[in-house]
Amino acid sequence: MNATALETLKQAIRTVPDFPEPGIQFKDITPVLGHPELLRLAIEALLEPFQEQEITKVVGIESRGFILGGMLAHHLDAGFVPVRKKGKLPYQTLAESYQLEYGTDTIEMHIDAIEPGDRVLIHDDVIATGGTAEATIRLVERAGGEVVGCAFLIELTGLQGRKRLPAHVPVHTVLQL
Ligand code: PRP
Ligand code: MG
Repeated sequence: MNATALETLKQAIRTVPDFPEPGIQFKDITPVLGHPELLRLAIEALLEPFQEQEITKVVGIESRGFILGGMLAHHLDAGFVPVRKKGKLPYQTLAESYQLEYGTDTIEMHIDAIEPGDRVLIHDDVIATGGTAEATIRLVERAGGEVVGCAFLIELTGLQGRKRLPAHVPVHTVLQL
């Protein structure tokens, strides 16, 4: 993707200070979602390394990873798998917990969502500390899937979340903020 297009996307991300808590600079992607030309750029940029990778499933992480994740799945002619916060999925699940600054969090995926041999692209809007993505990789691998890569629209580089992910998983981020 050319530098002008990336800059256009970057300019469209809205930073909201002190949301949801004082001190947090929230990265709001809704202006990108709301404009068809920006939405197309975002999808193209996320898919760039993965077009020819024979992805069979896109895993989207609740909740903001569902929006573009569903579109990525459609573009790749792949299935879509939701990874959700604990207690939200109706059927039997695999669960993984991960460390937060204070305490832990748990995410779940249906036990039959990924089959051995599935080639999986994991998507979320933002990688911050990397905890959510790290746990999602564990879920997919436990189910027998191969994680072909992770694609994030935004990487908060200062938090070094990328370092938390296993070295064998390619990480693609569109905007570094
Ligand atoms: C945000 C963001 C990522 C995650 C990244 O989601 O959408 O999913 O945090 O953080 P990490 O890299 O430190 O794990 P949030 O938990 O705020 O929920 P939401 O997507 O439902 O708004
Ligand atoms: Mg999220």
